[in-house]
Amino acid sequence: MPLVVTTFDLPAAATELLAEVAALAGPEGWRDALPEADGLLCLLTDPIDAELLDRAPHIRIVANAAVGFNNIDVTACHERGIVVTNTPDVLTEATADLTWALILCTVRRVPQAERSLRAGEFRGWGMWDYLGGDVQAATFGIFGMGRIGRAVARRAAPFGMHVQYTTRSPANVPYEQVEWETLLTTSDVLSLHAPLTPETHHLLDRAALRRMKPGSYLINTARGPLIDEAALVDTLRDGPLAGAGLDVYEREPEITPGLLELSNVVVLPHIGSATLATRNAMAMLATRNAHAVLLGGRPLTPVLSEG
Ligand code: GLV
Repeated sequence: MPLVVTTFDLPAAATELLAEVAALAGPEGWRDALPEADGLLCLLTDPIDAELLDRAPHIRIVANAAVGFNNIDVTACHERGIVVTNTPDVLTEATADLTWALILCTVRRVPQAERSLRAGEFRGWGMWDYLGGDVQAATFGIFGMGRIGRAVARRAAPFGMHVQYTTRSPANVPYEQVEWETLLTTSDVLSLHAPLTPETHHLLDRAALRRMKPGSYLINTARGPLIDEAALVDTLRDGPLAGAGLDVYEREPEITPGLLELSNVVVLPHIGSATLATRNAMAMLATRNAHAVLLGGRPLTPVLSEG
């Protein structure tokens, strides 16, 4: 019977499905089981590189329980005939919801106000206290009009925002497509929804951050390295940014020194897809991918190439 190694705890339904076709090892000591493994279920926090693959000569599928797959050396997998899969679609709506939670919290400074009340600083309603920016009628820039970008854009309509975007592949959407420079310099809220690739690494470097619209907000629920985090700290201190909402970081779980001392940043611990139903669906989709490949079939959601 084939062996599937998992780096994380699986829901009971996933274990039952796998039991039809494979024995299961892990998450405890999963690395030790690699030499015998036929399939691997892994997370975005597990780097899957050539060295690891060389220790797993029988692996036929690497099933990532995440939509992003920058943790996997896809070329090294494909060179070895290994199928790579991710979990698109099932996390789109939850991630879009969380993005909006972060946008509203960041622009209206909700966590800061809550912290202030808990600290005993609320002295009653104050005309000029706890002021934030406006979301309604603002220009909303979306970098990456894929599944999550679209779901985030859809949620902007009730706020009467003007939505503009740049994207890699043609997108048939009722929003204004603009050049990157326009997106960067005219968006009141700029939200990132692109995968991490060599092209998007430090998309927001120091120079780009400096060109952002004065008083604007930067939101990142995609991948941390899209932003030069040290430069972001400076930009949040000195302008032009009014604030940032971050769910992801350049070197998770490390946070760049200085970031947490700033009062105009809202920080979440990478929880974009963190609803119980969504995480179950991600685990099940990864499992179904492994199940299909081990039975000699086609994976449901293959990763075809880098990016
Ligand atoms: C989460 O960050 C994912 O890529 O699924």
